Amino acid sequence: MEFSYAGLFSRTMPTIDHLGIAVKSLAAAREFYERLGLTISGEEVVESEQVRVGMIALGESRIELLEPTAENSPVGKFLSKRGEGLHHISLRVPDLPSVVAKLKNDGVRLVSDEIKTGAGGHRYIFVHPASAGGVLLELVEAAR
Ligand code: CO
Repeated sequence: MEFSYAGLFSRTMPTIDHLGIAVKSLAAAREFYERLGLTISGEEVVESEQVRVGMIALGESRIELLEPTAENSPVGKFLSKRGEGLHHISLRVPDLPSVVAKLKNDGVRLVSDEIKTGAGGHRYIFVHPASAGGVLLELVEAAR
C-alpha cells in the first residue's frame, strides 16, 4: 500500500502545536503578552536545550517563548545571528516514532537522530530547515 503522510495525522486533527519564538528576556516578553491579555504559564528550564520556556495557551495551539540559558546554545546562537523572532513551527502528530521512521527512510534531514523529551514531558524531534523549506520544523507527539 502506498504510504500517506495524511494517515499519520488521521487520528487527531492536524494541529499547529505551537510557534516557538526566541526572546532575549522571558520577563520582557511576559510584559508584552500580558498587555495583550494573555498569560504565560508552565515556565520551566529545559536543560538539554539550554532554554527557559514559557507557554501561552491560544486555543488548540500555543506560543512557546524561548530564552536561552547559555550564549552558545542553539537558541542563544540564533539570537546573536538573527535577533529575536520566530524560531520554529511545531506540528502535533499522533505517532511520532512512525513519522520519524518514515522521514529517515525518505532521507529527510533531522536535527538529531533521537526523539527527545522536552517541556511538559512532550516527545519531539526537529526536521532540519534544509529538508523543510527553510523552516525549522518541530514534530511533537500528541498526548495519548
Ligand atoms: Co518547540
